Amino acid sequence: MSALTKLALGMMGRLRPSPAKGDSAHSIALPPPAKEGGKPLYEVLAKRCSSRAFAQTALPLSLLSDLLWAADGINRADGGRTAPSAIDAQEIDVFVALPTGAYHYVAAIHELQLVAASDLRKLTGYQDFVDEAPLDLVYVADYARMRMVPVAMRESYASVAAGAIAQNVYLFAASNGLATVLRAWIDRSAIADALGLNHDQQVLLSQTVGYPRNAT
Ligand SMILES: Cc1cc2nc3c(=O)[nH]c(=O)nc-3n(C[C@H](O)[C@H](O)[C@H](O)COP(=O)(O)O)c2cc1C
Repeated sequence: MSALTKLALGMMGRLRPSPAKGDSAHSIALPPPAKEGGKPLYEVLAKRCSSRAFAQTALPLSLLSDLLWAADGINRADGGRTAPSAIDAQEIDVFVALPTGAYHYVAAIHELQLVAASDLRKLTGYQDFVDEAPLDLVYVADYARMRMVPVAMRESYASVAAGAIAQNVYLFAASNGLATVLRAWIDRSAIADALGLNHDQQVLLSQTVGYPRNAT
């Protein structure tokens, strides 16, 4: 769907999810993440870039598992995460829009839990590639976890935390030959409606991930 069509539908409040493609499993147990290997940091930094041409090929579950752990998984016995957050509020929830449905990544048990049994990918951004790429991540701040942070600082702190997660994804993509792009040009209210978010939750950013087009 073109950006113009999405903008028009969005303005009328009629940008809606598509039916799920395939089995919308209630939960998806992710295999244990690799946590080692990958390309050297400097090589990955040299390769990091935004790409907007994606193949439709799905990521294998093991790669999706590694991706989500790298993004914001638990990397320490005390529950610490791969991305920082102010006063360790861990206020960012990562949602994954797949053809089979939209899932919440529950880092504590490294599992995906279904939140919407429909294909939300086209809602996650105005650019047309988001519709067909195998997955779009959505970063949502939950301000209910930031009661200790002054109200005026909450959105900026949460945006920084989401940015750190996004950079983890960029580096993971560079290490694994994947394409990715972080996106702020998104219809936040359409996404919030489709995910069933509450008033404490705010959609901040989205990020598409997939194999580069012409490389698979
Ligand atoms: C906060 C933020 C929002 C962005 N929003 C979009 C977007 O909506 N669509 C898009 O195609 N790229 C988006 N980008 C990606 C930038 O366009 C990209 O990072 C920039 O052109 C530099 O290219 P590089 O990432 O390859 O270095 C965004 C980047 C950031 C940091």
